[in-house]
This record gives sequence, C-alpha cells and structure tokens, in this order.
Amino acid sequence: MYSILIVHFLLTIYSNYLKYGSPQGSENLREALSNYLSTTRGLNASINDLLITKGSQMGIYLSAQLLLDPGDTIAVGMSNYPTADQIFKQAGANLLRIPIDHNGMDVDYLENKLKKQKIKAIYIIPHHHSPTTVTLSMERRLKFLKLAKEHQFAIIEDDYDFDFHYANKPYLPLASIDHNQNVIYLGSITKTFAPALRIGFMTGPANFIYAATALRELIDRQGDTTLEEAFASLFKQGEMNRYNRKALKTYKERRDTFCSLLDTNFANQITFKVPEGGLAIWAIFNPEIDLIQLSHNALKQGLYLDNGLFYKNEVFSTNGIRMGFASLDEKEMIEACAILKKVMY
Ligand SMILES: Cc1ncc(COP(=O)(O)O)c(C=O)c1O
Repeated sequence: MYSILIVHFLLTIYSNYLKYGSPQGSENLREALSNYLSTTRGLNASINDLLITKGSQMGIYLSAQLLLDPGDTIAVGMSNYPTADQIFKQAGANLLRIPIDHNGMDVDYLENKLKKQKIKAIYIIPHHHSPTTVTLSMERRLKFLKLAKEHQFAIIEDDYDFDFHYANKPYLPLASIDHNQNVIYLGSITKTFAPALRIGFMTGPANFIYAATALRELIDRQGDTTLEEAFASLFKQGEMNRYNRKALKTYKERRDTFCSLLDTNFANQITFKVPEGGLAIWAIFNPEIDLIQLSHNALKQGLYLDNGLFYKNEVFSTNGIRMGFASLDEKEMIEACAILKKVMY
C-alpha cells in the first residue's frame, strides 16, 4: 500500500522528476550546494561549475580518468584511502608515496621530489586524512598550491570529511584559496546523512566539469533525480544546516566518550591521537597483537572489528585500524569495549 502511494505521489505531483534530466544533476540541488559551499567554505562555485556525483567515490574516478594517462605519476599519501590508490592504478598511473605526519602530507618531501621528477596530479585528503585522521595545516595547503602553480600539476582535493571538524572552524579548502584553476574539489553528503544515499559533488575549472559531465553520462546517464530533489528541498528549508549542527554536537560528544573509554580500558595496548574531526579513531595496536585473529575472535562475540588489512600497502604496515564511533551511543560503546577487552586480554 505504502509503495503504491509513493508511486502515485511521484506520478502526479513530481512527475517532472521522473523524466530524463541533466547528467550534471538537479539544478535545484546544484543551486543549494552553490550557496552551501559559499557560506560554509568560502568556495565560489556557480551551478554550471558543479557536477552531482554518486558519492565522492565517483568524483575520484572521473578525475583520475580525465587527468591521468598510462605512465603518468600521481602523488598520494604513504598511507592512503586504498580505493583511491586502486582507481589511480586502474588509470595506468604510477603512485609517488608522500609521508604523512601530524600536519598532513609532507609538502617539503614533495618539493624535493619535484626537482627530479614530474607529477601530473596529487591526491589530498585535507580533513581528515584517511586512515590517520590528521588535518592538513594551512601552511602546507598554501605551499601545495604554490607548487601546483610552479610545476603545473592538478590537485584532487577529497574533502569528504569537511563537515565534521570539532576542534574549531575547519580550514578553508585549497579550492577556496586557489587562483590558478589547479584544484578539483570533491565533497559528499553520504557521510553527513547515510552512506547508502549516494550523493556527492565535484567542482573545478569549467572545462573540466564539462568533460567530467560528458564522461559521467557515458557511465551513468544521470543521477537519482528524486533523491537529488529531496536533498535540494532539505537544503532550501534549512534542514541540512540544522541537521549538520546537531550531528556535529552529537559526534563530538561521541568522539570524547569513545576516546576516554579507549584510554581507560586499553592504555597499554592501543595508542591514538584524539582526532580534530571525522567519524573514526586511528587506533594503533601493540605490534604483538594479531589484528586478523582479534577481529575474528571479536566477531564470534558479536562485535565487528576491522582487521587492518584494508589500509596496508607496499610501504605502509602499521598495526592499526580505524575505529568508527559515530553510529554508537554510550551504552553501545561500553558494550563494544567490554567485548574487545574480553577477546584482547
Ligand atoms: C577518503 C575517502 N574518500 C572518499 C570516500 C567515498 O565516500 P562516498 O563515495 O560515500 O562519498 C571514502 C569512503 O569511505 C573515503 O574514506
């Protein structure tokens, strides 16, 4: 009955949204995002400069396909979001690994490398690096932009976590400061709302967005118009802002609760830095702990715990996992820690 009502509602009231639409995405949502990006990040993106994607994942893929040719080099973090690494490799690119410290990617290391080799692009996760959760400092942001101008490479800025910064105000994206059209900016609503609602966006130089739209159309004629229109209304009615403010407060409290539980229960076995933002803790376990076995044993007790394999690569083998806290209330966190304690000691 419920589904019949929805179909009826769509066919009668919103029938326009059931037609073929622009591959660039709903104009209403692009307009809402244009305002939102301007007020939250000082980012100037007109509706023509925005492409709605299926999550930021699609934005990484489109950027890689347009920027990289086989044999090109792209700089990425020593540890990195592994799916992005896969996308760049699939485009035929070589990865130049850049160390990450508590201020994010080491820009001086890149500067040195650029004396001897060319890169086509760099992939940066400024808020908050995955997996380590560190924030890229403003000083480094400015220097990356300077290097991009001097050495003519593109910056793919994956700012999927911008909306979850607890420390103070988030830093301005590189894209908001850039005057040289070198930055492709990617964002997402999937983390804000629900990962299954696949809405992301990208903005950059007009000709790049034009090419990305044409490529997107080859893969996927258009996005989910009804979902895009629904989000456009939520933005326009101010619901997204209200929701974001509430979520930020809740997640900050959850971060603090989870960090103090980890401190109290696992001080000898797990080290971590309280992240300035994001929805996970980068937890480094005592090297003697076998995370694969631990994860297996935890699951038998009803607790899903990552086993750390996802983030390992040819140069990165820290015995760590990302522990997501955002979806757990205090009671669930206490239960999770009790199970972990049981299987760890
Ligand atoms: C660093 C990073 N970028 C992009 C994504 C993709 O997110 P989505 O496509 O849901 O926006 C993820 C997902 O976890 C991620 O960790």
